[in-house]
Amino acid sequence: MPAEGPQVFSPPALSRRRFAALSAAALGAFSHHPLSPAWAEEPPPLDLLVRSESPFNAEPELADLIAAETTPLAHFYVRNHGPVPKVEADAYRLSVEGLVHRPRTWKLAEVQRDFERQTVEATLTCAGNRRREMSAERPIGGIAWDAGAIGHARWEGAALADLLAAAEPRAGAKHVWFEGLDPITEKDGSVAPFGGSVPLSRALTPADKSPLALVAYRMNDRPLSPQHGFPLRTVVPGYIGARSVKWLTKIIVSDRPSPNHYVAEAYKLTTSADPAELAAAEPIYEFPINSAICLPAAGAKVAAGKVRIAGYALPSGEAGASVSRVELSVDGGRTWSQVELLGDARPACWRLWRTEIELAAGKHALLARATDTAGHTQPATTPWNAKGYLHNAWHRVEVECG
Ligand code: MTE
Repeated sequence: MPAEGPQVFSPPALSRRRFAALSAAALGAFSHHPLSPAWAEEPPPLDLLVRSESPFNAEPELADLIAAETTPLAHFYVRNHGPVPKVEADAYRLSVEGLVHRPRTWKLAEVQRDFERQTVEATLTCAGNRRREMSAERPIGGIAWDAGAIGHARWEGAALADLLAAAEPRAGAKHVWFEGLDPITEKDGSVAPFGGSVPLSRALTPADKSPLALVAYRMNDRPLSPQHGFPLRTVVPGYIGARSVKWLTKIIVSDRPSPNHYVAEAYKLTTSADPAELAAAEPIYEFPINSAICLPAAGAKVAAGKVRIAGYALPSGEAGASVSRVELSVDGGRTWSQVELLGDARPACWRLWRTEIELAAGKHALLARATDTAGHTQPATTPWNAKGYLHNAWHRVEVECG
């Protein structure tokens, strides 16, 4: 087995602005052969706001987040439920088992060599993105994410569908479970790996315009870093980040969703911790439409006159949906004006946007809302839920013009 005990990486040394000075040298030092495990030992410095040290959870400043359409690693949020496992590439194995005719086990090099390499652009976002706002309504435990638990990357890897095809799913197969190598200690003291699960239909090659689900080994032209799942992770475009399981070591084909805590109990929309309500709720899969104003920052003081406003918008994860419109209001949502959308409209991918608006001296509340090609528009409010998931109400930022 790849993991001999809970060997873990210590979180990388972080300092908010250190990255600028180090980045060129650091990135240069890691440009090895395209498939080599270049970042297995030495992760590059991250430039993030640390929300929790252990487990390590961090998000970028919103101004940094929208500096580029493809989020550099330094500004890509990290969401961990447990320690980062230290994985030796040579000892690592990925297996497919369960409701299959041919259970399979591969080495990392075999996954990279024996399956066609696919490239997929997809935005990853945590279901808890923007939890801080929902928490203000009624307190919620968990990481108080601002709007930075999101990032966009170019992922390369094998199509999950190709790995499954090699294992030949049996009749009755309906769901695909994923297991990571991170040993997570639960409240009752038990230790279990992080797990995810997706319907088989999403794992197979989509007939519509949805990007392929991957077992990815590269992120933004480099091997996955330890924080982001080295050596392999799933990437399920359009689904909440929790289904993109890092440090993937096991795929299990089944007739039902995974019983893993992060499918059966967490990542569900409920109004209480009542076990009956939890059991009855469906696991969250697709993310909803969303957007955020990233510039100016909340509470910023800016010069009156033409003010530059910018942010991101995410389409719903519904098959084929892309961002079609983003609007801004400065009068509490009575009137809206369209902003300029940047980049291309692509399913499961965010679009950055910008506009300039005339603001007089005084306090202003800016509101943003996005619409996608599937006809979804962000609502004025999101119903509160006990875990603070899927907050996608109009994004509001207050600024003061002087
Ligand atoms: N996979 C494992 N093994 N362990 C985890 O804690 N966190 C999940 C998902 N995959 C997690 C995981 C969650 S909740 C999110 S939002 C994404 O990873 C975050 O991916 P990132 O850290 O690469 O941004």
